[in-house]
Amino acid sequence: MAGVRILAIESSCDETAAAVVEDGRRVLSNIISSQIDIHTLYGGVVPEIASRKHTERICNVVSEALSAAGTGLADIDAVAVTYGPGLVGALLVGVSYAKGLAYAAKKPLVGVHHIEGHICANLIDHPELEPPFLSLVVSGGHTTLVRVCDYNSLEVLGVTRDDAAGEAFDKVARAIGLGYPGGPKIDKISNEGDPDAIDFPRAKVGDAPYDFSFSGLKSAVLNYLNKCRMSGEEINVANVAASFQKAVVDSLCERVDLGLSELGDKVFALAGGVAANKHLRAGLEEVCKKNGVSFYCPKPVYCTDNAAMIGAAAYYEYMAGVRHGLDLNAMPSLKLGERI
Ligand code: KG4
Ligand code: ZN
Repeated sequence: MAGVRILAIESSCDETAAAVVEDGRRVLSNIISSQIDIHTLYGGVVPEIASRKHTERICNVVSEALSAAGTGLADIDAVAVTYGPGLVGALLVGVSYAKGLAYAAKKPLVGVHHIEGHICANLIDHPELEPPFLSLVVSGGHTTLVRVCDYNSLEVLGVTRDDAAGEAFDKVARAIGLGYPGGPKIDKISNEGDPDAIDFPRAKVGDAPYDFSFSGLKSAVLNYLNKCRMSGEEINVANVAASFQKAVVDSLCERVDLGLSELGDKVFALAGGVAANKHLRAGLEEVCKKNGVSFYCPKPVYCTDNAAMIGAAAYYEYMAGVRHGLDLNAMPSLKLGERI
């Protein structure tokens, strides 16, 4: 007998994506139409362009997801969609489309929190992974240390006070002329640089040991670049990238190390676009090894935005009886753990 099949839609930022996922862990199809080429021309995501491109592409992306899964709408148990957080216009395209589809096909509608989706990307292809576990979500918009107590229960331990880790990668990459999106470019060029060449700061947030801060680090990189330019000193881009990346990785590893040793969790799962970073994966694997903890990380394609992760998260919501009405709205600032 076929399991529970969910058609999931994701359009919170610059990827138009749809997937069919069975029982939360088996991906039958995963279609991603990326807009990176267009936004690269402007050095970052332009919200109005993102909304328009989602509108142009969503019909084909959903049809492709159904046909690649070898299924039709009739065999789908529910339609799931990311309803926040994200760019409001971009989210609205997915939410409106999902509502129309659910209404026309007489299927239940399940709204999903984008970050819960990122965390649930770890469940794909890892049948043995079950809560409770500690998770670090590092994306373009979020840096959050969270304890996944159960499938539908999260406890936020720490968040960034300013820039997200991915945002810092993107801004520094732009400053050193690598272009958008910066994360993968810094990841790559760092292999040719010396991570100890420049001593960039690792910020601590005094009263909140699990909170993060990256804007001081970003400013330190900008100041360093200015200083070099003013004194005519040559800038070694690979060294700047490697040293900046090491500072980010150290900050993230330190909070995870603290969380694991204080909370005693034996399982850790990394999530979000920055989780694709090889150096971060290696650093956290080391931290987990030291603490005798199992390390999980999604495949790179499930780290950056995709709809399979939304289908994985939606399954546990669906099984818990979560259903949204046709009044579901895009929630650009939806908090983690908050349900509308
Ligand atoms: O999760 P995601 O696709 O979108 C958001 O929900 O924000 O994350 C995108 C972020 C971007 O800031 C991008 O630069 C970063 O993830 N990223 C990386 C890598 N691949 C993507 N950062 C560091 N190293 C990478 N390999
Ligand atoms: Zn994301």
